[in-house]
Amino acid sequence: QAGNRSRLVEANKTAAAFFVERLASPEAETGRRFLTERGFDSEAAKTFGVGYAPKGWDVLLGHLRSKGFTDDQLVEVGLVARGGQRGIYDRFRGRLVWPIRDTSGDVVGFGARKLYDDDEGPKYLNTPETPLYKKSQVLYGIDLARKEIAKRKQAVIVEGYTDVMAAHLSGVETAVATCGTSFGADHISVLRRLLMDDGVFTGEVVFTFDGDAAGQKAAQRAFSEDQRFTAQTFVAVEPSGMDPCDLRIAQGPDAVRELVERKVPLFEFAIRTELKGHDLDRAEGRVAGLRAAAPVVARIRDEALRPEYIRLLSGWLAIPDDEVRRAVQAAG
Ligand code: CTP
Ligand code: MN
Ligand code: MN
Ligand code: MN
Ligand code: MN
Repeated sequence: QAGNRSRLVEANKTAAAFFVERLASPEAETGRRFLTERGFDSEAAKTFGVGYAPKGWDVLLGHLRSKGFTDDQLVEVGLVARGGQRGIYDRFRGRLVWPIRDTSGDVVGFGARKLYDDDEGPKYLNTPETPLYKKSQVLYGIDLARKEIAKRKQAVIVEGYTDVMAAHLSGVETAVATCGTSFGADHISVLRRLLMDDGVFTGEVVFTFDGDAAGQKAAQRAFSEDQRFTAQTFVAVEPSGMDPCDLRIAQGPDAVRELVERKVPLFEFAIRTELKGHDLDRAEGRVAGLRAAAPVVARIRDEALRPEYIRLLSGWLAIPDDEVRRAVQAAG
């Protein structure tokens, strides 16, 4: 089984090199332009191993067969798929491809972006669950970020592959991304080891989310994660709604670093989100705001922190502590 694993890693490694080589082909012109427009030069593409998967149905398949890999291995590792009229065919076609590595640097899978809106399939396509690729655990960029995460005791979670690239190139070298799934307990386990100091979890996790609806939802979900970590969890939201990649293009690398520096504690973010949309200049708005925010405060299990947030909320709403405390107790 160990021998099989290394063979599968080898297949991915060979595929990654193949994709990189194909990024230089005439067919990949749109892919190269995409990278340029995103502010990534060829050196950046090289650092992150970005490549191009050709349009044909069996170009990679033919290449990997010629290198001695069996069809079963290639299906098992998710590079090719079986089924339909085609029988067996390349999974990634006509897309930009990012190799996804684990902490030790093994390529476990790929994320692939389509280059034209009309192209078939979702905008991003990932390796399916395989013996190497567990989507609940993979963090894109962890191979490049792990040393900095351990050193600074900070991990920055961004949404996409291009955001990881933009963050690193802006000096935020602790950035990693989940790959098409929400951040969960398995991701925490991967980071935990890096964020520990003498057996104590001392690190901070900073989430940056898109300003769009999906990003806001993700931020709310983060709140419900393991509360042992939430007191050290922060949210960095860009007011314009731009993601780190777009921010770097529009405002430069400093803006990306400042976004991370402007982080606010997750609890504060969640409470402020509830208060949004209520007119706090009016009595009715303040009461409605209290009703919306009280359940969030009630979910803070840290006994030292909850009273602090009751005081804060009382200040934000200009409603006395006692009243806020009662509302929180009623909501809990
Ligand atoms: N994602 C996905 N499948 C999709 C859409 C998104 O897996 N159909 C994941 C990708 O990892 C993506 C991330 O969610 O990077 C964030 O989505 P979005 O903001 O739409 O993607 P961007 O990375 O900003 O995409 P773009 O290349 O357009 O900048
Ligand atoms: Mn070949
Ligand atoms: Mn988005
Ligand atoms: Mn983007
Ligand atoms: Mn985005």
